[in-house]
Order: sequence, then C-alpha cells, then structure tokens
Amino acid sequence: MKDLKAIILAAGKGTRMKSETTPKVLHEIMGKPLLGYVLDNVKNITSGQYVIVGHHAEEVSKFVDDNYAKAQTVLQEPQLGTGHAVSMVCPELDEYNGMVLILCGDTPVITEKTLNDFVIYHEKINSDLTVMSTIFDDPTNYGRIIREEDNSLKCIVEEKDATEEQKAVKEVNAGIYCFDWKKFRAAFSDLKSNNAQGEYYLTDIIEWGKSRKLKVNAYVLENSEEIFGVNSRLHLAQATKMINRRNLEKYMEQGVTIVDPDSTWISPDTEIGQDTIIYPSTYIEGKNIIGKNCKIGPCAHLRGYVVICDNIKIGNFVEVKKAKINSNTNVGHLSYIGDSELGERVNIGAGTITANYNAITKKKSKTIIKDDVKIGSNTVLVAPVKIDDGANVGAGSVITKDVPAWALAITRSPLKLLANWVGRKN
Ligand code: UD1
Ligand code: CA
Repeated sequence: MKDLKAIILAAGKGTRMKSETTPKVLHEIMGKPLLGYVLDNVKNITSGQYVIVGHHAEEVSKFVDDNYAKAQTVLQEPQLGTGHAVSMVCPELDEYNGMVLILCGDTPVITEKTLNDFVIYHEKINSDLTVMSTIFDDPTNYGRIIREEDNSLKCIVEEKDATEEQKAVKEVNAGIYCFDWKKFRAAFSDLKSNNAQGEYYLTDIIEWGKSRKLKVNAYVLENSEEIFGVNSRLHLAQATKMINRRNLEKYMEQGVTIVDPDSTWISPDTEIGQDTIIYPSTYIEGKNIIGKNCKIGPCAHLRGYVVICDNIKIGNFVEVKKAKINSNTNVGHLSYIGDSELGERVNIGAGTITANYNAITKKKSKTIIKDDVKIGSNTVLVAPVKIDDGANVGAGSVITKDVPAWALAITRSPLKLLANWVGRKN
C-alpha cells in the first residue's frame, strides 16, 4: 500500500451541542472524547495524522498532544468550510506523494476495519479519489451523492444548495474521502465559496477532479450506522449506545458473560478475560484491564486505569480508579479504592475507603496493601499509607500510619456497656 496520512476535521463549533465549556469533539463516550475514537481508528492504518483545530483550539490540541504522539494539530482560523480546513495542511504536505484519508472528528462509530476496507477498495479499483457514501431513509442535512446516467459519481450537492429533485436522493456523503494527494493538492487553491453557505466546500474537489479527467468513485457503505455523526446531545447518547452494544457483543464472543447488556456500559479500551461475569448496572469507563474469572458488579463503577488480575470480586456499589488489584482479592461491597495497589488474597471489608485526596493540599496519595491483608469493615485508609503483608485492620478504624506485616491495627474507641440503661430512662 502507498503511504497514507489522515486528516481529521475538528475545527467546527458544534453549535447544536449547546455547550459553553466543551468543544464538540471533546465530548466523551465512556471516558474518551469523540476525537479519541476517530484517532484510534486511524492511528494504526496511517503513518501520520493531522487534526484541524479552530474552536477551542487550545483544549483540542492539548488532548491530541497528550495522547497521540504521531498526530499533529493544524490551526484553521477563521473556519471557512471543509475545503478550507483541508487546505490548511497544504504547507505541511508540500512534498508528500502518498494518499490521504479525510474524516471528521465527530464520527466515532466508524471502525478501523471499515476505513481499511475503504482504502483497499480505493487502491484496488485504481481510483484517484473515492468518497464514502451510504443510503439513508432520511437523508436530511447530508450532502447528496449525485450520479451520472451511467451511475458513475457526478458530484455532491449540499442540502442547502439542492433542488427538490436532488433532495429526494437517499444516497449521502459520509464525509470520508481517500485520494491521491499530489493529484488533488492544487484543487484547494481553486475552490470557490459561491454557494448557499458561502463556504469553501471540500466536496467540490470531485468536480474539479472530473474536469481534469481524474478518476472519482463512490464506495457505498452497507452498515450506515457507522457513519453516524454526533451533532447534539441526543446524538451523543445514541452513538454511545451503538458503540457500547457492538463492544459488549465482542466481549460475549470472547467468553465474557454480560448478564444484562441493556444496563452495562464498558468502554472499548477495556480488556476482559475469559469467564469473567459482569453483573447488571455496571459502568466501566476509560482504559482498564480485567482478568479471567472475575465477578464485577452489580452496580460497580470502574473509572479508568484499573488493572484487575484473575479471580477477583468487585462487588456492589464499589468504585475503583487508578488501581492495580492482584489475583484472588475481594472488594465485596460499598467501597472506594483509588490510587491504590492491592496484593493477592486481600479481603477488603464492606465500606472501606481509601482516602486518597487531601482537600487542603489538593494532593492525591497512594494506598499500598500487600498480600494476605484483611481490612475490617468501615475502615478509612488515609493515604499515603501502606499495610504490609498479612496485617489485619479492625473494623471501623481510621488508619493514618503504615501498618507492619502481620500486625493488628485498630483505632476503635472502647465499647461502653451501661446495664439497664434503657429501663432507667422510663
Ligand atoms: C459535511 C459535508 C456533507 C456530508 C457531511 C457528513 C461538506 C461541504 N459537506 O457537511 O456533504 O454529508 O459532512 O457528515 O463538506 N469543519 C472544519 N472547518 C470548517 C468547517 C467544518 O474543521 O471550516 C469540520 C467540522 O468541525 C466537522 C466537519 O468539518 O467535523 C464537517 O463540518 P460540518 O459543518 O459539520 O459539515 P456538514 O454540514 O455536516
Ligand atoms: Ca456534520
């Protein structure tokens, strides 16, 4: 395959999200921004990625820089349309001789496989430009794919520029393109904005190519769900459901029991081992690894950077964040485990809290619990703190100092028994 670079359009405002604080592409699905889904889908099939940023450019750039080493952001200011957005990359790709894959930062449901199939198709048919299309019962708001009499691709017409006859067309532009960069680079200086929206449309490069006898084609994607774009909070919820359902099916195929897929949410960046059972109303976000033969939930919440080894029980109303839990350990009920390391064969009694956050210094600290430790119910472990091998902590304790191996730590106040106290009261 020729060299392939991705260009992801993410400079738009996303007005319909109605958000003052968060740019559209940084709205999250189970702990990962929309843009993260798109970048993850292209990072293994492209040699580099350019993300066009504009609105909230600083936050979007920070997300890209922090998480994607090979990706680069390019500023588009002001935002004059999708064609103008792509033209921002021209100086970066001056000498580039390969292909580009263009997609939008708000289409998280697409898969790496579909994009790869699309590029393979583009190469196989020897196309100069291929645009992905799909058929929608309700094509409203999408650009329509207009075909010639011989069914070949003619052009794309935006809803706002379309005639009534064109509006009736149900084949729409998915907004995903693959083309030979060198052959089309000059198009970007020729684009005009004489259309209903006064924008430089990327879609106009099709006619530009055709008039220069370049080969342009459309690739019809059968599973139209994949090109679902997020423009509103309703769409965000719908996309979350699509991604979750697909992901849960994958776990079940791999030998994981999901008792109730309708109430279970697991981020795609979570790995789960065979014979693990996920009970209802469990919410797992971010990046996590869960081993084999574990029981998680009902009503458990894993918040990311959680590594759970084999044969572990995370029971009801347990929240876990940034923690490594070694094999054969139980955290059965009503506990919070954050910024922690738990050894093997540990038992955490009900209602145990790792107090990892100091509200005065605003610092987070670690709790380390070694092998074979038993923590009694309703214990607060005030971090930084270490409970060494085999130690026991009595129920109801507040532990503020390290506990040595095989010791018993207990901070309970002595029990008072007042005989006949109830009778005396009357
Ligand atoms: C675009 C397509 C339309 C297609 C649809 C698929 C054009 C002219 N139209 O329409 O044919 O059916 O996508 O979803 O391309 N963006 C920038 N800079 C800009 C303008 C947009 O980066 O100046 C980004 C947006 O952030 C967004 C993407 O480009 O991620 C698409 O822009 P949007 O305005 O949503 O285009 P549509 O009207 O949906
Ligand atoms: Ca859009």
